[in-house]
Amino acid sequence: SDHSHHHHHVHHAPAADALGAYTMAHDAAQPAPGGRVVMVALEASEFDWEFVAGRPARAWGYDGQVPGPVLEANVGDVLEVRLTNRLAEPTTIHWHGLRLPAPMDGTDMVQHPVAPGETFTYRFMLPDAGTFWYHSHTNERVQMERGLYGALVVRGPGEPRVDAERVLVLDDVALDRKGQIKPPGWWIEQHDGRQGSTRLVNGLQEPVLAMAAGQIERWRIVNAASARYVRLSLGGRPFALIGSDGGLLAAPVTMTEVLLAPSDRVELAVGPFAEGETLRIESLAYDRKSTNSQRKAEPFATVRVGAAKPSVAEIPSKLRDIEPLVTGSITPNREVHLGARMSFRHGVDFLVNQEQHHRDQPVRVGELQVWDIVNDTLMDHPFHLHGFFFQVVSVNGEPPTFLSWEDTVNVPPKSTVRIAWVPDDRPGEWMYHCHIVEHHANGMMGHFAVV
Ligand code: C2O
Ligand code: CU
Repeated sequence: SDHSHHHHHVHHAPAADALGAYTMAHDAAQPAPGGRVVMVALEASEFDWEFVAGRPARAWGYDGQVPGPVLEANVGDVLEVRLTNRLAEPTTIHWHGLRLPAPMDGTDMVQHPVAPGETFTYRFMLPDAGTFWYHSHTNERVQMERGLYGALVVRGPGEPRVDAERVLVLDDVALDRKGQIKPPGWWIEQHDGRQGSTRLVNGLQEPVLAMAAGQIERWRIVNAASARYVRLSLGGRPFALIGSDGGLLAAPVTMTEVLLAPSDRVELAVGPFAEGETLRIESLAYDRKSTNSQRKAEPFATVRVGAAKPSVAEIPSKLRDIEPLVTGSITPNREVHLGARMSFRHGVDFLVNQEQHHRDQPVRVGELQVWDIVNDTLMDHPFHLHGFFFQVVSVNGEPPTFLSWEDTVNVPPKSTVRIAWVPDDRPGEWMYHCHIVEHHANGMMGHFAVV
């Protein structure tokens, strides 16, 4: 298609305006002025972990805990993570949602998996504020399910003032009768993805959380589950959505529920509540058109509201500028078809443009990408793009009600989601895939180069 034509419809937002200043440190391995180097050592290993109190299970995780430690830094800092692999098999860490250089992306397209006993050092600058996460990108059906994931919080200047912040990493596990994590399953699980019946917040089954009355908290929520969609509700109480995958929204949006597909993040301003109230963090029924869809509301945690504390919170009505990449009508320059076919080996193969692990066309630095993600199947798929934020332009032709930066978007059955993004100057090998771990493992993934 004619790319120059597209530019008539583009608010040409150089990376520095649209997405925070990636360009501020062109050498991505050096901190921006005023930034520091945040050094972390992470050890991947097997250990006993009580997902269910009193019932230790053999888990895999970082630093002996599930999830791994919350990593925290500021925009402009360099994060340096020395990973030591104490597992009996190779592993990698993918930095989900981060605009980092391709060689740091943590997939076996860009690095040798870290062998048992070996170490690898990831080092990159953090150009954007937001709630991100890190997880294994090797043998994910086992490694992610067993607990190799954690949250990463990056703070920027001008964050809204809140009374407290918490990180809630949602997941589920499938435990057998002895309380151990089941090995990967066969047909139904290959087809629908694993949806375990033990629901976890920060690695613990349905915990009870304490919150002070009268306060407004910022909740950074990550859906780390293999396949579960979380239609998040706080017992029907309203909350403000203030952020998504790629950081703050332009303005808070008041709602009573929000959908998190696998790998999605949301940031909520929650409260104030009154002393003595009890709220349920739950997932409402959601039919993702699979045999193991969630048919009724299921709890993730309980929040008990204790004695009041003074509040200094102030959520401004404008959080930041988000310029649309596309206005008016536009011709997409790529179609990405999500498909499936019967297979004797797996029961089902998952496909992009008719093939497993599709090799897609390269994209050029600076050239607007408008992609139609077309779901040809009868079930939902969360489409995830590595390394770059996109905007949702439309879902089945309808524009979204508010703009946001995303790295994952749900594509409902027989639907088309149009996304727009601009590859900033980070050439190399990148990928996109369905974030239902089993679909990705069975081939619903595309590989492409930024050149
Ligand atoms: Cu969470 Cu390939 O990504
Ligand atoms: Cu899928």
